[in-house]
Amino acid sequence: MTCRIGVAGVNGRMGRVLVEATVQNTESTLGAAFVRRGSAVIGQDAGLVAGVGALNCLVRDDLAAACTDFDVLIDFTSIDATLSHLDICRSAGRAMVIGTTGFSSTQKALLQVAAREIPIVFAPNMSIGVNVLQRVLAQTAALLGEGYDVEIIEAHHRHKVDAPSGTALRLGEIVARAYGRDLAEVAVYGREGHTGARDAKTIGFSTIRGGDVVGDHTVLFAGIGERIELTHKASSRMTFAQGAVRAARWLKDQPPGLYDMTDVLGLK
Ligand SMILES: NC(=O)c1ccc[n+]([C@@H]2O[C@H](COP(=O)([O-])OP(=O)(O)OC[C@H]3O[C@@H](n4cnc5c(N)ncnc54)[C@H](OP(=O)(O)O)[C@@H]3O)[C@@H](O)[C@H]2O)c1
Repeated sequence: MTCRIGVAGVNGRMGRVLVEATVQNTESTLGAAFVRRGSAVIGQDAGLVAGVGALNCLVRDDLAAACTDFDVLIDFTSIDATLSHLDICRSAGRAMVIGTTGFSSTQKALLQVAAREIPIVFAPNMSIGVNVLQRVLAQTAALLGEGYDVEIIEAHHRHKVDAPSGTALRLGEIVARAYGRDLAEVAVYGREGHTGARDAKTIGFSTIRGGDVVGDHTVLFAGIGERIELTHKASSRMTFAQGAVRAARWLKDQPPGLYDMTDVLGLK
């Protein structure tokens, strides 16, 4: 059955592409579109805001009053906005696909609590390629075993507000788990000055910010005499948006719980 999607932050970089992906998909429709209070685009046609032509769906700022207009809310906004939307969706019994990144572990715990009552897909990267990469990464780490230094390098556009990216952190968690390490104990975020020799157990993160880079991630396994580099490059936000719409369609029929894209894609 058709999934009626609500899009939060419809005037954002991801919000606009999410509208396009929603209407491109034959099994979803745009049920509602939201922005923050006071936004200049309230009352405008969401399709015109997104640049896809009129859709007869007006942009609103009253999520709580419009929850019956959608089955699943897709939210790629900011941490504060997403947590406020979470409260509203939980009260209204509406499912959520959350793509916002940068949550602390305390904030992630709030998602887990809400997921006892509503179905939630939460993933720092909704592209199919990155989720396949995660699977390949766990296998690579297991096959290589100890003896390889792991470094994660990510690049994003100049507007990104959190670092390292949620995807880089997820990749780090996967490697740490494969080696039986705790990422919180072994992560090294950037290096400067007299650092001393590299500790073999560490997992290093390097962040690049500039221009319009949509999202590049490389996991480097550096051994003696060889190295493996696993790289994913996103060239369009549409890959995240299509993944999010696919997640929404899947989520509509799920019981309450906290899911990620490996559940949606059947990669578990
Ligand atoms: N999971 C994934 O696959 C994936 C992929 C790409 C990006 N992301 C993440 O998605 C998030 C958004 O990225 P973006 O590049 O689209 O950022 P963006 O262009 O800044 O868009 C964010 C939108 O959220 C809106 N917003 C902020 N606070 C709000 C509130 N209280 N109520 C309603 N709307 C509010 C903003 O509205 P204003 O313009 O009025 O401030 C803006 O339109 C980031 O956390 C990013 O890391 C995730």
